[in-house]
Amino acid sequence: MQYSRSWRLLHWLIALCVIALVPVGLLIEARTEANLWDRTTDILYGLHKTLGFSVLVLMLLRIGCKLWLQAPAYPDTLSRRQILAAKSLHHLFYVLLILVPLLGWAGVTAFPALMIIPGVELPPMPGIPRDPVLAERLFGVHGAFALLLALLALGHIVAALWHRFVLHDEVFQRMGFRHLSDKEHKS
Ligand code: HEM
Repeated sequence: MQYSRSWRLLHWLIALCVIALVPVGLLIEARTEANLWDRTTDILYGLHKTLGFSVLVLMLLRIGCKLWLQAPAYPDTLSRRQILAAKSLHHLFYVLLILVPLLGWAGVTAFPALMIIPGVELPPMPGIPRDPVLAERLFGVHGAFALLLALLALGHIVAALWHRFVLHDEVFQRMGFRHLSDKEHKS
Protein backbone atom coordinates (compact mmCIF):
# COMPACT_ATOMS: atom_id res chain seq x y z
CA MET A 1 0.00 0.00 0.00
CA GLN A 2 1.14 3.58 -0.72
CA TYR A 3 0.46 7.00 0.75
CA SER A 4 -1.96 9.08 -1.32
CA ARG A 5 -0.52 11.06 -4.24
CA SER A 6 -0.94 14.44 -2.47
CA TRP A 7 0.75 13.13 0.68
CA ARG A 8 3.70 11.75 -1.33
CA LEU A 9 4.03 15.02 -3.26
CA LEU A 10 4.11 17.02 -0.02
CA HIS A 11 6.69 14.64 1.45
CA TRP A 12 9.08 15.11 -1.48
CA LEU A 13 8.55 18.88 -1.75
CA ILE A 14 9.32 19.31 1.97
CA ALA A 15 12.31 16.94 1.69
CA LEU A 16 13.74 18.99 -1.21
CA CYS A 17 13.25 22.24 0.75
CA VAL A 18 15.01 20.81 3.84
CA ILE A 19 17.88 19.41 1.74
CA ALA A 20 18.42 22.93 0.35
CA LEU A 21 17.71 24.79 3.62
CA VAL A 22 20.37 23.15 5.79
CA PRO A 23 23.44 23.97 3.62
CA VAL A 24 22.06 27.43 2.78
CA GLY A 25 21.46 28.03 6.52
CA LEU A 26 25.03 26.97 7.35
CA LEU A 27 26.36 29.14 4.53
CA ILE A 28 24.53 32.29 5.68
CA GLU A 29 25.69 31.65 9.23
CA ALA A 30 29.32 31.35 8.01
CA ARG A 31 29.02 34.51 5.86
CA THR A 32 27.48 36.42 8.77
CA GLU A 33 30.34 35.40 11.06
CA ALA A 34 32.85 36.43 8.37
CA ASN A 35 31.03 39.81 8.16
CA LEU A 36 30.35 39.26 4.45
CA TRP A 37 27.36 41.47 3.66
CA ASP A 38 27.23 41.33 -0.15
CA ARG A 39 24.55 40.54 -2.75
CA THR A 40 25.19 36.78 -2.53
CA THR A 41 24.53 36.86 1.23
CA ASP A 42 21.29 38.81 0.63
CA ILE A 43 20.18 36.28 -2.01
CA LEU A 44 21.00 33.33 0.27
CA TYR A 45 19.07 34.92 3.16
CA GLY A 46 16.08 35.60 0.89
CA LEU A 47 16.16 32.04 -0.46
CA HIS A 48 16.44 30.56 3.03
CA LYS A 49 13.53 32.59 4.38
CA THR A 50 11.34 31.81 1.36
CA LEU A 51 12.00 28.06 1.40
CA GLY A 52 11.74 27.95 5.21
CA PHE A 53 8.39 29.74 5.22
CA SER A 54 7.19 27.44 2.42
CA VAL A 55 8.00 24.43 4.65
CA LEU A 56 5.69 25.88 7.29
CA VAL A 57 2.83 26.26 4.80
CA LEU A 58 3.45 22.81 3.27
CA MET A 59 3.53 21.28 6.77
CA LEU A 60 0.08 22.70 7.53
CA LEU A 61 -1.20 20.92 4.40
CA ARG A 62 0.66 17.78 5.45
CA ILE A 63 -0.97 17.82 8.89
CA GLY A 64 -4.30 18.10 7.03
CA CYS A 65 -3.34 14.93 5.09
CA LYS A 66 -2.49 13.17 8.33
CA LEU A 67 -5.81 14.13 9.90
CA TRP A 68 -8.06 13.41 6.94
CA LEU A 69 -6.35 10.69 4.91
CA GLN A 70 -5.68 7.12 5.86
CA ALA A 71 -1.97 6.16 6.09
CA PRO A 72 -1.19 2.80 4.46
CA ALA A 73 -0.53 -0.23 6.65
CA TYR A 74 3.09 -1.32 7.14
CA PRO A 75 4.24 -4.56 5.45
CA ASP A 76 3.93 -7.69 7.64
CA THR A 77 7.72 -8.10 7.54
CA LEU A 78 8.14 -5.25 10.08
CA SER A 79 8.06 -6.08 13.80
CA ARG A 80 5.86 -4.08 16.20
CA ARG A 81 9.02 -2.57 17.65
CA GLN A 82 10.22 -1.38 14.23
CA ILE A 83 6.81 0.13 13.49
CA LEU A 84 6.80 1.91 16.86
CA ALA A 85 10.32 3.29 16.20
CA ALA A 86 9.33 4.46 12.69
CA LYS A 87 6.12 6.12 13.94
CA SER A 88 7.93 7.87 16.82
CA LEU A 89 10.56 9.25 14.45
CA HIS A 90 7.87 10.44 12.03
CA HIS A 91 6.06 12.27 14.84
CA LEU A 92 9.32 13.91 15.87
CA PHE A 93 9.76 15.06 12.24
CA TYR A 94 6.33 16.68 12.34
CA VAL A 95 7.23 18.55 15.55
CA LEU A 96 10.63 19.71 14.25
CA LEU A 97 9.33 20.64 10.81
CA ILE A 98 6.85 23.01 12.48
CA LEU A 99 9.09 24.22 15.31
CA VAL A 100 12.23 25.00 13.24
CA PRO A 101 10.51 27.32 10.71
CA LEU A 102 8.42 28.93 13.49
CA LEU A 103 11.63 29.77 15.40
CA GLY A 104 13.24 31.16 12.22
CA TRP A 105 10.15 33.26 11.48
CA ALA A 106 10.00 34.48 15.11
CA GLY A 107 13.71 35.37 14.88
CA VAL A 108 13.38 37.46 11.73
CA THR A 109 10.29 39.16 13.22
CA ALA A 110 12.17 40.12 16.42
CA PHE A 111 15.37 41.21 14.61
CA PRO A 112 13.56 42.52 12.38
CA ALA A 113 14.70 41.12 9.00
CA LEU A 114 11.51 40.17 7.17
CA MET A 115 12.58 41.22 3.66
CA ILE A 116 12.97 38.44 1.07
CA ILE A 117 13.74 40.62 -1.95
CA PRO A 118 13.48 44.44 -2.15
CA GLY A 119 9.78 45.28 -1.90
CA VAL A 120 8.66 41.82 -0.70
CA GLU A 121 8.47 41.00 3.00
CA LEU A 122 7.24 38.08 5.06
CA PRO A 123 4.36 38.93 7.40
CA PRO A 124 5.60 39.56 10.98
CA MET A 125 4.79 36.77 13.46
CA PRO A 126 1.97 38.08 15.68
CA GLY A 127 2.94 38.73 19.31
CA ILE A 128 6.72 38.87 18.76
CA PRO A 129 8.26 42.19 19.90
CA ARG A 130 11.10 43.99 18.10
CA ASP A 131 14.04 42.82 20.22
CA PRO A 132 17.45 41.97 18.68
CA VAL A 133 18.63 40.15 21.84
CA LEU A 134 15.55 37.91 21.74
CA ALA A 135 16.20 37.43 17.98
CA GLU A 136 19.73 36.12 18.65
CA ARG A 137 18.37 33.65 21.21
CA LEU A 138 15.66 32.49 18.81
CA PHE A 139 18.23 32.01 16.03
CA GLY A 140 20.42 29.98 18.42
CA VAL A 141 17.56 27.57 19.22
CA HIS A 142 16.50 27.58 15.55
CA GLY A 143 20.00 26.51 14.51
CA ALA A 144 20.29 23.79 17.18
CA PHE A 145 16.91 22.22 16.31
CA ALA A 146 17.66 22.55 12.58
CA LEU A 147 20.87 20.56 13.03
CA LEU A 148 18.99 17.91 15.03
CA LEU A 149 16.44 17.78 12.19
CA ALA A 150 19.28 17.37 9.64
CA LEU A 151 20.80 14.49 11.64
CA LEU A 152 17.47 12.69 11.97
CA ALA A 153 16.78 13.26 8.27
CA LEU A 154 20.12 11.64 7.45
CA GLY A 155 19.19 8.58 9.53
CA HIS A 156 15.76 8.52 7.88
CA ILE A 157 17.35 8.57 4.38
CA VAL A 158 19.78 5.76 5.28
CA ALA A 159 16.90 3.65 6.69
CA ALA A 160 14.76 4.28 3.57
CA LEU A 161 17.63 3.27 1.23
CA TRP A 162 18.32 0.21 3.37
CA HIS A 163 14.73 -0.93 2.89
CA ARG A 164 14.89 -0.18 -0.84
CA PHE A 165 18.26 -1.73 -1.76
CA VAL A 166 19.11 -4.23 0.98
CA LEU A 167 15.84 -5.56 2.36
CA HIS A 168 13.95 -5.09 -0.94
CA ASP A 169 10.66 -4.68 0.92
CA GLU A 170 7.78 -2.29 0.17
CA VAL A 171 8.62 0.31 2.79
CA PHE A 172 10.38 2.75 0.40
CA GLN A 173 7.65 2.48 -2.22
CA ARG A 174 5.01 3.55 0.32
CA MET A 175 6.40 7.06 -0.28
CA GLY A 176 7.87 6.32 -3.74
CA PHE A 177 6.99 7.70 -7.19
CA ARG A 178 6.29 4.38 -8.80
CA HIS A 179 2.67 3.34 -8.60
CA LEU A 180 2.33 -0.10 -7.03
CA SER A 181 0.07 -2.40 -9.02
CA ASP A 182 -2.54 -4.53 -7.22
CA LYS A 183 -0.36 -7.56 -7.91
CA GLU A 184 2.61 -5.94 -6.15
CA HIS A 185 0.37 -4.87 -3.26
CA LYS A 186 -0.60 -8.49 -2.71
CA SER A 187 2.82 -10.12 -3.23
C1 HEM B 1 12.56 23.53 7.97
C2 HEM B 1 12.90 24.80 7.86
C3 HEM B 1 14.27 25.35 8.17
C4 HEM B 1 15.49 24.71 8.29
C5 HEM B 1 15.79 23.22 8.15
C6 HEM B 1 16.48 25.74 8.60
C7 HEM B 1 17.83 25.49 8.79
C8 HEM B 1 18.76 26.44 9.21
C9 HEM B 1 20.14 26.16 9.55
C10 HEM B 1 20.82 24.78 9.50
C11 HEM B 1 20.71 27.33 9.90
C12 HEM B 1 22.17 27.54 10.37
C13 HEM B 1 22.19 27.46 11.88
C14 HEM B 1 23.57 27.50 12.51
O1 HEM B 1 24.57 27.31 11.85
O2 HEM B 1 23.58 27.73 13.74
C15 HEM B 1 19.71 28.38 9.79
C16 HEM B 1 19.91 29.74 10.05
C17 HEM B 1 18.96 30.72 9.82
N1 HEM B 1 17.64 30.55 9.48
FE1 HEM B 1 16.76 28.77 9.09
N2 HEM B 1 15.84 26.97 8.63
C18 HEM B 1 14.50 26.78 8.38
C19 HEM B 1 13.51 27.76 8.33
C20 HEM B 1 13.72 29.13 8.49
C21 HEM B 1 12.71 30.17 8.38
C22 HEM B 1 11.21 29.94 8.12
C23 HEM B 1 13.35 31.35 8.57
C24 HEM B 1 12.77 32.75 8.54
C25 HEM B 1 11.63 33.08 7.95
C26 HEM B 1 14.74 31.08 8.80
C27 HEM B 1 15.71 32.03 9.04
C28 HEM B 1 17.04 31.78 9.37
C29 HEM B 1 18.02 32.81 9.65
C30 HEM B 1 17.78 34.33 9.62
C31 HEM B 1 19.22 32.15 9.96
C32 HEM B 1 20.57 32.80 10.36
C33 HEM B 1 20.55 32.97 11.86
C34 HEM B 1 21.74 33.74 12.36
O3 HEM B 1 22.21 34.60 11.65
O4 HEM B 1 22.14 33.45 13.49
N3 HEM B 1 14.95 29.71 8.75
N4 HEM B 1 18.53 27.80 9.38
